[in-house]
Amino acid sequence: MKLTAALGPASYDVIIKPGTLARVHRLANLRRRVMVVSDDGVPAKYVKALLQQCDEGHSCILPQGEGGKSIESWQAILARMLDAGFDRHDLVVAVGGGVPGDVAGFAAASYMRGIDWLQVPTTTMAQIDASVGGKTAVNLGGTKNVAGAFHQPRLVVADSNTLKTLPPRHMANGLAEALKTALIGDADLFELMEQKDIAQNLERILYLALRYKIGVVERDATEQGERRLLNFGHTIGHGIEAAGGPQGLLHGECVALGMLPMIESKTLLRRTRAVMRKLGLPLKYTADPDTVLHYMQRDKKREGDRYTIVRVKTLGEGALETVTFDELRLLVKGNGG
Ligand SMILES: NC(=O)c1ccc[n+]([C@@H]2O[C@H](COP(=O)([O-])OP(=O)(O)OC[C@H]3O[C@@H](n4cnc5c(N)ncnc54)[C@H](O)[C@@H]3O)[C@@H](O)[C@H]2O)c1
Repeated sequence: MKLTAALGPASYDVIIKPGTLARVHRLANLRRRVMVVSDDGVPAKYVKALLQQCDEGHSCILPQGEGGKSIESWQAILARMLDAGFDRHDLVVAVGGGVPGDVAGFAAASYMRGIDWLQVPTTTMAQIDASVGGKTAVNLGGTKNVAGAFHQPRLVVADSNTLKTLPPRHMANGLAEALKTALIGDADLFELMEQKDIAQNLERILYLALRYKIGVVERDATEQGERRLLNFGHTIGHGIEAAGGPQGLLHGECVALGMLPMIESKTLLRRTRAVMRKLGLPLKYTADPDTVLHYMQRDKKREGDRYTIVRVKTLGEGALETVTFDELRLLVKGNGG
């Protein structure tokens, strides 16, 4: 299956096909210096499969986990490229989940004011969400995505065979983003996830979730309007994620928990909880709601005391709403942990 993100001169294809990792050289120009960025939790065979296709392949393996999404990682990639004589015509390839993807993308966005990069996502989180849309970033201290840039990749290659080695918790974590998409924009995707076997329909789920995200990104590449719908679950989710600290819940798990208070219909809330249970996502968090609220105040999408949140009244129809912190507090305390 193939999708195209039509973004004028920054357009690119998203290939969703098992086995494509071995065929990246047929889809993109690897006959230049290539820096493959991955992490030490991604099976080495995926990095090797990519390097084998390069004329001059280099690699930078980051420490796995959110801690690897750091200024130090970004600096290490740039230093490696500089040492190896990379110029503006060379290439960065991210192989892994959202962590190496976000850092590699920021390195590509900033090296010599921007060079080409490709994404080979190997987690559901990255295949469904992080690899498409051009958001790149690193964290600073405990605060996520402080430094970053919009820089679209040249190609995304989502090989679902790579998901076979992904631990079940990470599998569910990314599927939370597909559930998010379903709630805000695709009732058919919701019903697919609700009624059918997830493993047997994985590629269809990836395809539908990506199709929706690409459509939104095409209409609003730099998040001035409609793209903010994709932040459904993120305002409270980021608070839960920060309150849990590094040993806490995963990003997608937090987004899913952050969506629940934003669903206005009781029936839809019940159905959503059932899908979350089916996926193996948590239905509760243990962090103190006041701590969650404290971290939410650092939300970079906040404007003074006003927060733009996304709510869902009807399945498949997310809507932006501006609320005060006190209104947000009621939502967190009413339906949160
Ligand atoms: N740029 C965006 O638009 C965007 C969107 C959503 C999330 N994100 C970011 O993505 C990050 C989370 O991404 P993630 O959930 O993919 O986490 P991750 O990149 O940390 O990967 C999760 C874990 O799985 C391991 N792993 C990766 N692929 C594997 C495979 N095929 N088999 C076995 N293990 C594998 C990794 O080593 C890691 O330990 C967060 O930093 C989040 O902010 C970015």
